Amino acid sequence: MKIFLDTANLESIKKFNDMGLLDGITTNPSLMSKEKGNPKDAMAEITSIIKGDVSLEVVSTEYSGMIEEGKRLRQYGENVVVKVPMTPDGLKACKTLSSEGIPVNVTLIFSPNQALLAAKSGAKYVSPFIGRLDDIGQNGMQLIEEIKKIFSHENYNFKTEILVASVRHPMHVVEAAKIGADVVTLPPAVLDKMLGHPLTTIGLENFLKDWEKVKAENPDVKI
Ligand code: E4P
Repeated sequence: MKIFLDTANLESIKKFNDMGLLDGITTNPSLMSKEKGNPKDAMAEITSIIKGDVSLEVVSTEYSGMIEEGKRLRQYGENVVVKVPMTPDGLKACKTLSSEGIPVNVTLIFSPNQALLAAKSGAKYVSPFIGRLDDIGQNGMQLIEEIKKIFSHENYNFKTEILVASVRHPMHVVEAAKIGADVVTLPPAVLDKMLGHPLTTIGLENFLKDWEKVKAENPDVKI
């Protein structure tokens, strides 16, 4: 399963990219609004730091505006995936951009039928928002299971990847991986939580304490 970071924060992107963890990035207008400075600079830097796919979202709601913005966004790099909303105009833009070789991520997916239609329009990725479904008392992970079943059905040949979005905690990641989702996009805080375990911290402290005893008896020792 690929791991994308769901942020426009350059510090977080560099931090996790330096650990070799990032296969890509997803952004949206809300994430952009959280960062200082001109978004143009952020988009240029993110697309140059990250070698994998970087989703940049349009803000137009009608077809021609989405095409214009999508083509402008694509100028940031060959790794730009244009993110469009799951609307009739969004799907029309998805079809046009995809047929011109520009990959599209259809966002704000909340039902299996929306995922099916986005795949039919040629989307490279569909982004089902599981946390927002959980928030309103629906089972977000069940949506991933249903989309997975449809996309991998032997009667079809869908190439569209399931990009699990609106992830709230590490168990979402474990569940998505067990289902066989193609990608999860994670807020930096979730990736931070996945890294740590109290037994790792205690175990390391004990190793270092014990090594101090060895050093006390062998002052010249070095590893
Ligand atoms: C996906 O690409 C979106 O940026 C994101 O996952 C939305 O998550 P939220 O529900 O935490 O805003």
